[in-house]
Amino acid sequence: MNVTRRLVMKGAAAAAASFAAAPSQAAPAPAPAQRLPGDIARDEAYWRHIAAQYDVTGDVVNFENGYWGVMARPVMEAFFRHTEKVNRDNSWYARRSYYADLQPVQQRLANMLGANDDEIVFTRGATEALLALVGGYRSLTSDDAVMYSDLDYDSIQTAMETRAEQAGAAVIRIEMPEPATHESILETYRQALAGNPSVRLLLLTHISHRTGLKIPVREIVELARGFGVDCIVDAAHSWGQTDFRIDDLGADFIGFNLHKWIGNPIGAGLLYIRRGREADISPNISERPDGTGKAFHRIHTGTTNFATFLTINDALDFHDLVGAANKAARIAHLRDLWVNDLRDDPRLDILTPEDQRLHAGITSFRIRGRGSVTENKAIVEKLATAHGVFTTHRAGPANGACVRITPTLYNTPAHCVQLVGALRSVLDEF
Ligand SMILES: Cc1ncc(COP(=O)(O)O)c(C=O)c1O
Repeated sequence: MNVTRRLVMKGAAAAAASFAAAPSQAAPAPAPAQRLPGDIARDEAYWRHIAAQYDVTGDVVNFENGYWGVMARPVMEAFFRHTEKVNRDNSWYARRSYYADLQPVQQRLANMLGANDDEIVFTRGATEALLALVGGYRSLTSDDAVMYSDLDYDSIQTAMETRAEQAGAAVIRIEMPEPATHESILETYRQALAGNPSVRLLLLTHISHRTGLKIPVREIVELARGFGVDCIVDAAHSWGQTDFRIDDLGADFIGFNLHKWIGNPIGAGLLYIRRGREADISPNISERPDGTGKAFHRIHTGTTNFATFLTINDALDFHDLVGAANKAARIAHLRDLWVNDLRDDPRLDILTPEDQRLHAGITSFRIRGRGSVTENKAIVEKLATAHGVFTTHRAGPANGACVRITPTLYNTPAHCVQLVGALRSVLDEF
């Protein structure tokens, strides 16, 4: 047995033991380590067991799990325990023990991501991390330009524009190909960078919140480096939904979320700055000029929710128990279940390609000729009120608005069947 496999088994066993020690619930069993994720993804008995760890609304089938992730019950119970403890012990705990308790959590995250612990800093979400990176990016001059695409996140697009404006730099907005292929995405960036030699800073969204398109970040980062361009990577939706380490992205600046796909309570994310690149991002405005050399000095949140951060360890236990690769395979499998049934329907476009490198679990669709926000809002409303399936519309792709479907671990094949039936019925109407 190789070392990684042994460590995975050890982690899963430790996580199962830790849940067994939790007060009220039976411990979920780890997935059998000798089976491949693609095989485990189809094991309904196993996933029924995992889905039973989530308390979710019965009002609707929720396929809008992209906003944030429901905590599994053991994680929520841990959050309650931490909240009780912090509230009871107040500053007696926070002033004397909190940071010592948090340091191993930071180290654990660094190990999982393949980073040094001083390269990552806790934030309250991806937004805080990305705004610190974009807003603090120092090297722009009035001779430079920044670049982003139509699929990047709204507020981070605006931050790129504001930062450019401050520096007197230009803004270049590109459009992602639709439908996309691995090569057409790379070619889009190749041409955009070659045609705009003044670009100095590029925003890349690993998995688009609009369509679900997963772009080949590592290849684009390498390409950009060849043009002397720095990349800020928005990994808000990717870590946890897919399984990767920072080296797989190759980027120097990344913003992560822990409350979407890692399943932590809301209010936790990470900023990553590669060692040696700290000077390229301004320290937080609250820092004095001396002692500002660390990534740590780029974030200053003030008093945060201690329990939220203490629960990260428990969220990671549950994440490890399921297994990052199994989780990614299951979410992608649920996506395939509805997409495979509708991919050939000429009345709609599925906005992520079949190429497994280019999607994870999120996938949006657009009914042909129905690209307005109003139409897509109406489709979402119809799916919810007439068919009991909750989704969300997304505006912003150059080819028009769409409807996003985001399955997660508690969704089932029966939910996917209900979704497909609902979509067929809506297609007949719109
Ligand atoms: C692509 C992307 N980036 C950044 C964010 C911001 O994440 P948060 O609001 O959790 O900070 C989101 C949130 O949905 C997102 O989808």
